[in-house]
Amino acid sequence: MKLEDQEQWNIERVKSLYREMSKNYDDDVSIESYPSPYIIGSWIIKELKNCTFDTKKKVVKILDVGCGTGVSSTPFFSSEDFLFEVTGIDATEEMLEIAKNKPFKMLKQVDLNTDFFEDQVEIFDAAVCVGVLDFIQNLPKLFFKINKLLKKGKDKKPLFGLTSPILLNENNIKFMKNFTDCKKKEENVACDDTVFNYFKQYEKNLTNLFIKTNFKLLKVDLIFGYKDSVSLRNIFYWGLLLEAN
Ligand SMILES: C[S@@+](CC[C@H](N)C(=O)[O-])C[C@H]1O[C@@H](n2cnc3c(N)ncnc32)[C@H](O)[C@@H]1O
Repeated sequence: MKLEDQEQWNIERVKSLYREMSKNYDDDVSIESYPSPYIIGSWIIKELKNCTFDTKKKVVKILDVGCGTGVSSTPFFSSEDFLFEVTGIDATEEMLEIAKNKPFKMLKQVDLNTDFFEDQVEIFDAAVCVGVLDFIQNLPKLFFKINKLLKKGKDKKPLFGLTSPILLNENNIKFMKNFTDCKKKEENVACDDTVFNYFKQYEKNLTNLFIKTNFKLLKVDLIFGYKDSVSLRNIFYWGLLLEAN
């Protein structure tokens, strides 16, 4: 799916797709077939551990934006490092029904394209949004909203971990090919910097979106997304870790 397809994803179409997908979602995804939730979750947990302030003694509040059945919250449920309290929001009732079997603090049916959680500010320590941006019509509006819901402090910058679809333009296709070849050959020394520099230089729409909505890019990587069932091609995402200002 490409960013250009977003307009076609009105909420009824999203709900109808995921109503169907909810039946087998948890059986169909595993850490191997869909690693993004585990990678993004581990980045957030690692960054929290590196924090100078002592989060270990307190509850860490997470917002899972487009939580689906709860797969993107799994790393927080299984973490022994912190006491996580996770709130999940999603539009599809049938996905949320399955999420109810997992240890969420709260689940809420929400259309992310609307003004959800109105009048609420600075509630969460971190947010995740995995496999969802493909469907969002107004990215700046959603990013401003997430920023507003993140709790800022003098010595504390809240985190936002997410995946974003990669536009299949000439540059990106060439970069992905070189990068995955280099990873296959395990020549991934300094790959982190290579991806970061490439992203900053060529993904202007996303870097400008982060600046405009008061986020700072901390980390980016190419993450295997899923195998497309029609073309059988491996689809990659940008995996991103941002800090809210
Ligand atoms: C690929 S699933 C990802 C679910 C979960 N984050 C994961 O990683 O397993 C996409 C989810 O986004 C939700 N979604 C898409 N558009 C949405 C919208 N406008 N408002 C709320 N949820 C939406 C769908 O209902 C679906 O559960």
